[in-house]
Amino acid sequence: MQATITIPATSANLGPGFDCLGLALSLYQTVTFTTREEAGLLITTTGEDAHKIPTDESNLVFEAANRLFARFGQRPSGLHIHQDNQIPIGSGLGSSSSAVLAGLFGANALLGKPLLRAQILQEATNLEGHPDNVAPAVYGGLILGVQAPDGLLVERISVPPLRVVVVLPDFHLPTAEARAALPQQVSLQDAIFNASRLGLLIRALETAAYDKIRAAMQDRLHQPYRLPLVPGLSAAYEAAYAAGAAGVALSGAGPSLIAFAPAGHEVIGEAMTAVFAAHQLPSRTWILAVDTQGSRVDIDN
Ligand code: HSE
Repeated sequence: MQATITIPATSANLGPGFDCLGLALSLYQTVTFTTREEAGLLITTTGEDAHKIPTDESNLVFEAANRLFARFGQRPSGLHIHQDNQIPIGSGLGSSSSAVLAGLFGANALLGKPLLRAQILQEATNLEGHPDNVAPAVYGGLILGVQAPDGLLVERISVPPLRVVVVLPDFHLPTAEARAALPQQVSLQDAIFNASRLGLLIRALETAAYDKIRAAMQDRLHQPYRLPLVPGLSAAYEAAYAAGAAGVALSGAGPSLIAFAPAGHEVIGEAMTAVFAAHQLPSRTWILAVDTQGSRVDIDN
Protein backbone atom coordinates (compact mmCIF):
# COMPACT_ATOMS: atom_id res chain seq x y z
CA MET A 1 0.00 0.00 0.00
CA GLN A 2 1.20 3.49 -0.78
CA ALA A 3 -0.01 6.88 0.49
CA THR A 4 1.34 10.13 -0.90
CA ILE A 5 0.83 13.19 1.28
CA THR A 6 1.32 16.73 -0.01
CA ILE A 7 1.46 19.59 2.51
CA PRO A 8 1.82 23.30 1.66
CA ALA A 9 4.23 25.76 3.26
CA THR A 10 2.63 28.41 5.44
CA SER A 11 3.35 31.92 6.62
CA ALA A 12 2.15 32.46 10.19
CA ASN A 13 1.31 35.68 12.04
CA LEU A 14 1.22 38.07 9.02
CA GLY A 15 2.06 40.90 11.41
CA PRO A 16 -0.68 41.29 14.04
CA GLY A 17 -2.07 37.72 13.91
CA PHE A 18 0.54 36.35 16.29
CA ASP A 19 -0.02 32.63 16.97
CA CYS A 20 -3.49 32.64 15.36
CA LEU A 21 -3.40 33.69 11.66
CA GLY A 22 -1.68 31.92 8.78
CA LEU A 23 -1.64 31.67 5.00
CA ALA A 24 -0.93 28.54 2.92
CA LEU A 25 1.58 29.03 0.11
CA SER A 26 2.33 27.24 -3.16
CA LEU A 27 5.51 25.50 -1.96
CA TYR A 28 5.21 21.88 -0.85
CA GLN A 29 6.55 18.94 1.08
CA THR A 30 5.55 15.60 -0.49
CA VAL A 31 5.93 12.46 1.58
CA THR A 32 5.32 8.94 0.29
CA PHE A 33 4.59 6.11 2.71
CA THR A 34 5.05 2.63 1.23
CA THR A 35 4.50 -0.57 3.18
CA ARG A 36 6.95 -3.29 2.22
CA GLU A 37 7.69 -6.96 2.84
CA GLU A 38 11.12 -6.36 4.34
CA ALA A 39 10.74 -5.59 8.05
CA GLY A 40 12.07 -2.34 9.50
CA LEU A 41 11.99 1.36 8.77
CA LEU A 42 13.64 3.00 5.76
CA ILE A 43 13.62 6.80 5.44
CA THR A 44 14.96 8.56 2.36
CA THR A 45 15.02 12.29 1.63
CA THR A 46 15.38 14.50 -1.43
CA GLY A 47 15.00 18.22 -2.12
CA GLU A 48 15.46 21.24 0.10
CA ASP A 49 17.75 20.65 3.11
CA ALA A 50 17.57 16.87 2.43
CA HIS A 51 20.93 16.32 4.13
CA LYS A 52 19.68 17.96 7.36
CA ILE A 53 16.67 15.67 7.76
CA PRO A 54 17.29 12.70 10.10
CA THR A 55 16.69 9.28 8.56
CA ASP A 56 16.29 7.37 11.83
CA GLU A 57 13.42 7.23 14.33
CA SER A 58 14.07 10.86 15.35
CA ASN A 59 12.70 11.95 11.94
CA LEU A 60 9.78 14.33 12.60
CA VAL A 61 7.50 12.74 9.99
CA PHE A 62 8.09 9.32 11.53
CA GLU A 63 7.69 10.59 15.12
CA ALA A 64 4.28 12.06 14.30
CA ALA A 65 3.24 8.93 12.36
CA ASN A 66 4.39 6.71 15.19
CA ARG A 67 2.11 8.49 17.68
CA LEU A 68 -0.87 7.34 15.64
CA PHE A 69 0.54 3.84 15.12
CA ALA A 70 1.02 3.59 18.90
CA ARG A 71 -2.44 4.95 19.68
CA PHE A 72 -4.15 2.44 17.40
CA GLY A 73 -1.75 -0.39 18.34
CA GLN A 74 -0.80 -1.09 14.74
CA ARG A 75 2.48 -0.35 12.99
CA PRO A 76 3.42 -1.75 9.58
CA SER A 77 6.34 -4.15 10.05
CA GLY A 78 8.06 -2.84 6.92
CA LEU A 79 7.75 0.84 6.03
CA HIS A 80 9.52 3.15 3.59
CA ILE A 81 9.02 6.90 4.12
CA HIS A 82 10.30 9.11 1.31
CA GLN A 83 10.37 12.84 2.04
CA ASP A 84 10.66 15.14 -0.98
CA ASN A 85 10.89 18.62 0.46
CA GLN A 86 10.61 22.09 -1.08
CA ILE A 87 10.19 23.96 2.22
CA PRO A 88 13.47 25.20 3.70
CA ILE A 89 13.97 24.13 7.33
CA GLY A 90 14.06 26.84 10.00
CA SER A 91 12.91 29.49 7.54
CA GLY A 92 9.59 30.64 9.02
CA LEU A 93 7.64 28.80 6.31
CA GLY A 94 6.15 26.04 8.41
CA SER A 95 8.53 23.21 7.57
CA SER A 96 8.10 21.47 10.93
CA SER A 97 4.30 21.73 10.74
CA SER A 98 4.40 20.22 7.26
CA ALA A 99 6.49 17.30 8.54
CA VAL A 100 4.18 16.68 11.52
CA LEU A 101 1.08 16.82 9.30
CA ALA A 102 2.65 14.54 6.70
CA GLY A 103 3.35 12.00 9.45
CA LEU A 104 -0.18 12.19 10.88
CA PHE A 105 -1.95 12.07 7.50
CA GLY A 106 0.36 9.28 6.29
CA ALA A 107 -0.20 7.07 9.34
CA ASN A 108 -3.93 7.83 9.24
CA ALA A 109 -4.07 6.67 5.60
CA LEU A 110 -2.21 3.43 6.38
CA LEU A 111 -4.49 2.79 9.36
CA GLY A 112 -7.63 3.06 7.20
CA LYS A 113 -8.44 6.70 8.07
CA PRO A 114 -9.69 6.40 11.67
CA LEU A 115 -9.24 10.16 12.22
CA LEU A 116 -11.10 13.01 10.55
CA ARG A 117 -9.22 16.01 9.13
CA ALA A 118 -10.29 18.16 12.12
CA GLN A 119 -8.92 15.57 14.56
CA ILE A 120 -5.60 15.52 12.73
CA LEU A 121 -5.48 19.29 12.96
CA GLN A 122 -6.12 19.19 16.72
CA GLU A 123 -3.39 16.54 17.14
CA ALA A 124 -0.91 18.60 15.10
CA THR A 125 -1.81 21.76 17.04
CA ASN A 126 -1.14 19.93 20.31
CA LEU A 127 2.27 18.91 18.99
CA GLU A 128 3.19 22.31 17.54
CA GLY A 129 1.74 24.39 20.41
CA HIS A 130 -0.29 26.81 18.25
CA PRO A 131 -2.54 26.48 15.19
CA ASP A 132 -1.24 29.29 12.96
CA ASN A 133 0.96 27.11 10.73
CA VAL A 134 -0.91 23.81 10.92
CA ALA A 135 -4.46 25.09 10.26
CA PRO A 136 -3.71 26.70 6.87
CA ALA A 137 -1.51 23.71 5.95
CA VAL A 138 -4.52 21.44 6.56
CA TYR A 139 -7.24 23.51 4.87
CA GLY A 140 -5.36 25.86 2.50
CA GLY A 141 -5.96 29.59 2.15
CA LEU A 142 -6.04 32.16 4.94
CA ILE A 143 -7.04 30.67 8.28
CA LEU A 144 -7.71 32.04 11.74
CA GLY A 145 -7.29 29.41 14.43
CA VAL A 146 -8.63 29.94 17.94
CA GLN A 147 -7.97 27.49 20.74
CA ALA A 148 -11.35 27.56 22.55
CA PRO A 149 -12.11 25.65 25.79
CA ASP A 150 -13.89 22.88 23.86
CA GLY A 151 -11.32 22.58 21.10
CA LEU A 152 -9.91 24.41 18.16
CA LEU A 153 -12.12 26.80 16.20
CA VAL A 154 -10.97 27.33 12.65
CA GLU A 155 -12.27 30.10 10.42
CA ARG A 156 -11.35 30.13 6.74
CA ILE A 157 -11.26 33.62 5.28
CA SER A 158 -11.82 33.73 1.52
CA VAL A 159 -9.19 35.73 -0.24
CA PRO A 160 -8.92 36.64 -3.91
CA PRO A 161 -5.89 35.22 -5.77
CA LEU A 162 -2.89 36.93 -4.16
CA ARG A 163 0.79 36.73 -4.98
CA VAL A 164 3.48 37.24 -2.39
CA VAL A 165 7.26 37.57 -2.31
CA VAL A 166 9.18 35.62 0.30
CA VAL A 167 12.84 36.42 0.93
CA LEU A 168 14.89 34.15 3.17
CA PRO A 169 18.30 35.36 4.41
CA ASP A 170 20.92 32.72 5.08
CA PHE A 171 20.85 33.13 8.85
CA HIS A 172 20.17 30.55 11.55
CA LEU A 173 17.37 31.76 13.84
CA PRO A 174 15.83 28.89 15.83
CA THR A 175 12.13 29.40 16.65
CA ALA A 176 12.92 28.84 20.34
CA GLU A 177 15.33 31.79 20.24
CA ALA A 178 12.83 33.99 18.40
CA ARG A 179 10.19 33.13 21.03
CA ALA A 180 12.60 33.67 23.91
CA ALA A 181 13.11 37.26 22.68
CA LEU A 182 9.46 38.11 23.41
CA PRO A 183 8.23 39.74 26.61
CA GLN A 184 5.92 37.73 28.88
CA GLN A 185 3.70 40.75 29.52
CA VAL A 186 2.50 43.44 27.13
CA SER A 187 0.79 46.76 27.70
CA LEU A 188 -2.93 47.28 27.22
CA GLN A 189 -2.08 49.80 24.50
CA ASP A 190 -0.07 47.21 22.56
CA ALA A 191 -2.83 44.62 22.95
CA ILE A 192 -5.38 47.07 21.54
CA PHE A 193 -2.98 48.05 18.76
CA ASN A 194 -2.75 44.42 17.61
CA ALA A 195 -6.40 43.50 18.09
CA SER A 196 -7.57 46.43 15.97
CA ARG A 197 -5.07 45.72 13.22
CA LEU A 198 -5.86 42.00 13.09
CA GLY A 199 -9.52 42.81 12.40
CA LEU A 200 -8.52 45.31 9.74
CA LEU A 201 -6.02 42.90 8.15
CA ILE A 202 -8.55 40.12 7.75
CA ARG A 203 -11.00 42.49 6.09
CA ALA A 204 -8.29 44.09 3.91
CA LEU A 205 -7.03 40.71 2.66
CA GLU A 206 -10.56 39.46 2.09
CA THR A 207 -11.39 42.45 -0.09
CA ALA A 208 -7.87 42.92 -1.59
CA ALA A 209 -7.89 46.46 -0.15
CA TYR A 210 -4.17 46.95 -0.78
CA ASP A 211 -4.31 50.55 0.45
CA LYS A 212 -5.16 49.34 3.97
CA ILE A 213 -2.74 46.42 4.26
CA ARG A 214 0.23 48.52 5.35
CA ALA A 215 -1.58 49.95 8.37
CA ALA A 216 -3.18 46.57 9.04
CA MET A 217 0.10 44.59 9.05
CA GLN A 218 1.67 46.60 11.85
CA ASP A 219 2.43 44.59 14.97
CA ARG A 220 3.64 45.35 18.46
CA LEU A 221 3.65 41.88 20.02
CA HIS A 222 6.54 40.13 18.29
CA GLN A 223 8.12 41.86 15.29
CA PRO A 224 9.74 44.73 17.21
CA TYR A 225 11.59 42.16 19.34
CA ARG A 226 12.48 39.80 16.52
CA LEU A 227 13.53 42.05 13.64
CA PRO A 228 16.74 43.12 15.46
CA LEU A 229 17.84 39.47 15.83
CA VAL A 230 18.93 39.19 12.18
CA PRO A 231 21.36 41.59 10.47
CA GLY A 232 19.55 43.65 7.84
CA LEU A 233 16.07 42.31 8.67
CA SER A 234 14.60 45.68 9.73
CA ALA A 235 16.23 47.43 6.77
CA ALA A 236 14.96 44.76 4.33
CA TYR A 237 11.46 45.17 5.80
CA GLU A 238 11.64 48.92 5.10
CA ALA A 239 13.20 48.37 1.66
CA ALA A 240 10.24 46.22 0.62
CA TYR A 241 7.88 49.11 1.38
CA ALA A 242 10.16 51.56 -0.42
CA ALA A 243 10.08 49.25 -3.47
CA GLY A 244 6.28 49.30 -3.56
CA ALA A 245 5.06 46.51 -1.26
CA ALA A 246 1.51 46.96 0.05
CA GLY A 247 2.28 45.01 3.23
CA VAL A 248 5.33 43.34 4.77
CA ALA A 249 5.61 40.95 7.71
CA LEU A 250 8.06 38.63 9.35
CA SER A 251 7.03 35.16 8.17
CA GLY A 252 6.31 33.08 11.27
CA ALA A 253 9.20 33.41 13.70
CA GLY A 254 11.49 34.37 10.79
CA PRO A 255 14.02 34.84 9.48
CA SER A 256 12.11 35.11 6.16
CA LEU A 257 10.01 38.15 5.25
CA ILE A 258 6.77 38.00 3.29
CA ALA A 259 5.58 40.94 1.19
CA PHE A 260 2.17 41.46 -0.39
CA ALA A 261 1.76 43.52 -3.54
CA PRO A 262 -0.61 43.75 -6.51
CA ALA A 263 2.41 43.95 -8.90
CA GLY A 264 6.17 44.48 -8.97
CA HIS A 265 7.05 41.36 -6.98
CA GLU A 266 10.47 40.89 -8.61
CA VAL A 267 11.50 44.47 -7.80
CA ILE A 268 10.40 44.09 -4.18
CA GLY A 269 12.33 40.83 -3.87
CA GLU A 270 15.43 42.40 -5.38
CA ALA A 271 15.23 45.34 -2.96
CA MET A 272 15.19 43.01 0.04
CA THR A 273 17.96 40.81 -1.37
CA ALA A 274 20.16 43.89 -1.93
CA VAL A 275 19.78 44.88 1.74
CA PHE A 276 20.75 41.42 2.98
CA ALA A 277 23.71 41.38 0.57
CA ALA A 278 24.86 44.71 2.05
CA HIS A 279 24.84 42.90 5.42
CA GLN A 280 26.93 40.05 3.96
CA LEU A 281 23.95 37.68 3.99
CA PRO A 282 23.05 35.75 0.85
CA SER A 283 19.30 35.30 0.47
CA ARG A 284 16.79 33.44 -1.65
CA THR A 285 13.54 34.67 -3.13
CA TRP A 286 10.27 32.93 -3.98
CA ILE A 287 7.25 34.49 -5.66
CA LEU A 288 4.33 32.38 -4.54
CA ALA A 289 0.59 32.08 -4.87
CA VAL A 290 -1.84 31.17 -2.11
CA ASP A 291 -2.41 27.42 -1.87
CA THR A 292 -6.16 26.79 -1.68
CA GLN A 293 -6.20 23.01 -1.35
CA GLY A 294 -4.34 22.37 1.88
CA SER A 295 -3.14 18.87 2.74
CA ARG A 296 -3.70 16.25 0.03
CA VAL A 297 -3.79 12.50 0.55
CA ASP A 298 -3.52 10.10 -2.42
CA ILE A 299 -3.84 6.41 -1.67
CA ASP A 300 -2.73 3.63 -4.01
CA ASN A 301 -3.68 0.16 -2.74
N1 HSE B 1 3.41 31.91 15.69
C1 HSE B 1 4.67 31.24 15.83
C2 HSE B 1 5.72 32.26 16.25
C3 HSE B 1 5.05 30.62 14.50
O1 HSE B 1 5.70 33.35 15.69
O2 HSE B 1 6.52 31.98 17.12
C4 HSE B 1 6.32 29.83 14.57
O3 HSE B 1 6.13 28.60 15.18
